Amino acid sequence: MPAIVLVGAQWGDEGKGKATDLLGSRVEYVVKFNGGNNAGHTVIIGKEKYALHLLPSGILTPGVVPVIGNGVVIDIPVLFGEIDGLNARGVDTSRLVVSANAHVIPSYNSILDRVTERFLGSRKIGTTGRGIGPTYADKMTRVGIRVQDLFDEKILRQKVEGALALKNHLLVKVYNRRSITVDEVVEELLTHAERLRPMVADTALLLSEALARNEVVLLEGGQATLLDVDHGTYPFVTSSNATSGGACTGSGIPPTAVTRVIAIAKAYITRVGEGPFPTELFDEDGEKLRSIGAEFGTTTGRPRRCGWFDIPIARYASRINGVTDLIITKLDVLTGWEQIPVCVAYDVDGERISELPMTQTGFHHATPVYEYLPGWTEDISNARSLDDLPSNARAYIDFLEQRCGAPISAIGVGPEREQTIVIRDLLS
Ligand code: IMP
Repeated sequence: MPAIVLVGAQWGDEGKGKATDLLGSRVEYVVKFNGGNNAGHTVIIGKEKYALHLLPSGILTPGVVPVIGNGVVIDIPVLFGEIDGLNARGVDTSRLVVSANAHVIPSYNSILDRVTERFLGSRKIGTTGRGIGPTYADKMTRVGIRVQDLFDEKILRQKVEGALALKNHLLVKVYNRRSITVDEVVEELLTHAERLRPMVADTALLLSEALARNEVVLLEGGQATLLDVDHGTYPFVTSSNATSGGACTGSGIPPTAVTRVIAIAKAYITRVGEGPFPTELFDEDGEKLRSIGAEFGTTTGRPRRCGWFDIPIARYASRINGVTDLIITKLDVLTGWEQIPVCVAYDVDGERISELPMTQTGFHHATPVYEYLPGWTEDISNARSLDDLPSNARAYIDFLEQRCGAPISAIGVGPEREQTIVIRDLLS
């Protein structure tokens, strides 16, 4: 029963879309199991560039069934907008399946996300403002709206009433905004019901049947390990489980079905939003990584914070996710540096530690301990095997592999689909 999990090893934007693409047509189902339209996959096929926020990147591969799992939160107008955008470019989206148990992001939660961030001021999280946090909070406090609720107006109305009873107090009394009526929310959600209905299914059952037929199911994580609400740099995290454990709860696939866990890491590291980031660069090296690596958010356009590769983070991601294969992306961005620092440990208040600090305070105090590896100047964007790499680039990869706790199975050397060194087949 081959269920494969794909997760980000750092703070997101590692290039998961490309990895999905690498598995290509050998995958029958691609499941998004967490997050919502806070994600941003960029997939480049030929001359076409696709920026996906909510749809699983498998939507671009003919024959693959893309699934939005129960762990996802869905902004329906965004979903329809993405479908329309792809259809206009000739991409068939008719195979898309959406879990009846996935939660819907009502417009009041996007409003609340943004006003809460403003209210928090210097304590803000730096969210994408898409209503993700408030919608997961509603799920946990059991006042959420699920996809299936759109097909029963009476239930929908009751649920919206329940949610707004509290939220209107918050909006009016705390945030000084206008209140929202039950009618406007219900009406808006009902306008989507008929278009959504044919896509909706019991996706956990569908996937279980697919696995029983020995079909390959890829579980694609949004965000990344250090943005996981349990295992990330809390509170500067997203509100879902982006690690491999979340793949099971967010899809209904049991842990025993997962045969492979692939983690993606950039050859350096980036983060958007607030929160600790030990190897962050504030100098021209950071600028250079940002401009060469085109490090601007796919969803919000924000410049990404950039820093050197962090081994304790990669090792942590290997451990938390049970990684069987590591994919390193954007190695080509490092071409041209005389030497490349790699963080091998931290100094936390005078003590050297090689694991992630146990506490948030420790993380905020951590400064990187670097080893310096010799750089290379040769263009590596045409490399297709390890032998094509200059010896220093090869040594950089070997160094990461020895220290990260998982074998490296592929390396990205450019944005195009074929600009990849495949070391080990991801399916055999
Ligand atoms: P939220 O997911 O919008 O609540 O944002 C919480 C944190 O996660 C913020 O720091 C965001 O910048 C970050 N975040 C959310 N989605 C992504 C992503 O796809 N890539 C990178 N960072 C993300």
